[in-house]
Order: sequence, then C-alpha cells, then structure tokens
Amino acid sequence: MASLYRKIMFNNHTINRFKELETPFYYYDLGILNKTLSACKESSSKYGYHVHYAMKANFNQRVLNAIQSFGFGADCVSGNEVKAALEHGFEKENIVFAGVGKSDKEINLALDADIFCFNAESVQELMVINDLAKAKNKIANIAIRINPNVDAHTHHFITTGLDENKFGINTWQLDAVVEALHHCANLQFLGIHFHIGSQIIDMEVYKNLCTRINEIQEWFTEKGFEVKILNVGGGLGVDYYNPDTNQISNFENYFKVFKQFLNVRADQEVHFELGRALVAQCSSLVARVLYVKNGIKKNFLVLDAGMTELIRPMLYQAYHQIENISRKSEYDEQISVGIDTIQYDIVGPICESTDCFRKDVEMPTSFRGDLIAIRTTGAYGEVMASSYNLRDRVGSVYSN
Ligand code: LLP
Repeated sequence: MASLYRKIMFNNHTINRFKELETPFYYYDLGILNKTLSACKESSSKYGYHVHYAMKANFNQRVLNAIQSFGFGADCVSGNEVKAALEHGFEKENIVFAGVGKSDKEINLALDADIFCFNAESVQELMVINDLAKAKNKIANIAIRINPNVDAHTHHFITTGLDENKFGINTWQLDAVVEALHHCANLQFLGIHFHIGSQIIDMEVYKNLCTRINEIQEWFTEKGFEVKILNVGGGLGVDYYNPDTNQISNFENYFKVFKQFLNVRADQEVHFELGRALVAQCSSLVARVLYVKNGIKKNFLVLDAGMTELIRPMLYQAYHQIENISRKSEYDEQISVGIDTIQYDIVGPICESTDCFRKDVEMPTSFRGDLIAIRTTGAYGEVMASSYNLRDRVGSVYSN
C-alpha cells in the first residue's frame, strides 16, 4: 500500500495542460533528460571515456537534438539510424554501426558516410564489408563484436552475451577472425566490442565482463593485433520501481567499475553504448481511461493506449509504475485512511488478451476520463510503437 502515497512527477500546471490534450501521448520532460545527460557526461569525462548514445532506445527528434548537443556519439543498428544520426548533427567520427544483420545497402551507406567504426558480428560479415569497401576503394574501420559468454543476470529476452544468443562472434571462432583479418586488405582492425544485455543493475556483471575483456584483448595482442579501442557496449539499468526518488542511474559507480577492473593502456580508448540509462526516466506515456469495467473476479481500467503504444510489459513482462494523475491529490496528501482504492487490471484497447500493462494494480477509485501516466517509458517506448489495428501514431508532448 505504501507505494500509493509517494509524490508523483507531475505538478498541477502540467496536469491541467494534459487535460486539454488528445491522448495517448508520450510526455517528455526535457529537464530530466538534460539532468541525466549532464550526470553521464560528467562521470564519463572524468576518465576520458567515449559515450555513444544507442539510438535504438529513442530516436525522437527533440531527444536526439538534446543528446547531440551534449557531444555524445551515436550507436546505430540500421542504415536509417546512421542517416538520422548524421541529420541530427552527430559527427561521423563518432558513429558506430552494430547489428547482426547489416544489409549490403546499409553497409554501403555507412561506407559512403565514412563512419568511425563497424562493429562486425561474423566472419562472413567481415568478408562482405571488405568486398564492399574494396569496390569503393575505401578502408573500413572494424571492431570485432565478441560474445563473451558472460551472464547479464537480466530478463532472458534482453540478454545478448551468452553462447546461445545470436549476437557477436563466439570466442572459439576467433582464430577464423584473425585469419580473415589477414586476408582483408580493406579492413582496418581497431579493436573489440561487447554488449551483453540490457537493464543490468548488478555491477558485478560488469566486473565479470571486464575480466573477460582483459583476457580477450591479451589474446589479440599475442596474435600481433594492436587493440586501439575497447567498446564495452551499454546495458546500464534504471529504477522502474522508483522513478521519482531514483531518477538518474548511478553513472559514477558504473564508470568506476571499468576504471577499476578493465586493463586500459594509456593510448587505448574506451567506448560505451548507453541507451536506456540516458532516456528512460525522462518520459511517461499518458493515456485516458476509456471505460471502467467492474467485474466479479476482476476490475478493469480500459485505457486509450495499449500494446501498440508501449509493448514492453507485453513483450518482456516489464514492470512500469502506473499512476492515476487525475487523482494526484490523493497521492500527495498521504492520506493513509479513508482513501478509496481498488485493484485494477490496467488494459489497452487492442484485440489481444495480452494487451495488459499490469494486473492487480492498487489505485485510487478511477473514472472514465481520468488521466493515467505509465512511467519510465523514454527507452524502447515510442520507438517500438506500431500501427497494429490501424491505430493512429502516438503523439509526443514536451515540457517546454
Ligand atoms: N549496444 C548494443 C549493441 C545493443 O544491442 C544495445 C541494445 C545497446 C548498446 C543499448 O543497450 P541499453 O543501454 O539501452 O540497455 N527493447 C528492449 C531492450 C533491447 C536492447 C537492445 N540492444 C527493452 O525494452 O527492454
């Protein structure tokens, strides 16, 4: 019950503004975004680390503009993301291109743009990039994405660094990589790349990753390769349960782990690809209650947003805080008795039983027309929206 009585993010002015607007929409608090970016910049700059924003987390224009203005690089996973990064002013020297299935068209686009580095995920991909670069008389910079078999201890749907995952090159294939690199005259080996999963909150996981990277870079050095860059990927998690009291991830601790446990020579660069931790908390999905269905076994709040606007709960059983912001005073006043609460299943309008944001949520008694905020939706929210059921595209609203 206690969680019902915490302060919520939105002030009365914001809520009054929402009342006038068509729902559903993603609300972006650019103040929170800037605070988060600034915290990350400060902690990473201390060690001279290079942070590339993983654009897949959110490519909303205003968000990209803010991130670019802080001087972060871009981590892209499609040709269109490379294009968007360039259009939003990210420097080509700061763009990396990852992805297990880059098409020839996408590789050509990135070669034409002279991006900083391809994170290559298979021996065959090395060959293809080499051929395409040769045809253009160019040299492509390459980091080898290695699957280190380190458990990220996160939801198995968002784990990427285990032997059974499709990502990266397994360590037993590294001899073949070395062989290929010797034959590929149009590739310049820059270093090694890792990304073991997302929403990682246990720093021990990153310590284990560092140990593994140290072994692997040693191996490459022994084979006569100069490892100039170590790209450790992203994955730093956020607090979905306490979006107000723990708004900004602990970047200090995160970067410190790498400082302590990663062996870095003075002439080496360390690169990061953070997505979620930069953008998750700056946004909430705001929806209206369309219908209240009180049943015998269940009470339902049927919202005008569903899995088409935010699919994370349905796809990964992801938890998001849900608040009735029209009943804000009932949260604020911390009334411990006398407040009417009901347990609702918070569902969307889509014709699928799985279209449920959360079950048995304790909420103040809610009514048709109430505004509901689903919190911490800045990462993998708007970007994963779809038009299933021929739904309208979800809108975006900004704090300023
Ligand atoms: N680098 C690579 C190679 C990646 O594949 C990813 C994310 C990142 C960096 C950024 O990871 P982050 O810092 O955001 O955790 N849709 C899922 C998450 C998928 C993550 C995909 N890769 C979700 O909603 O939880």
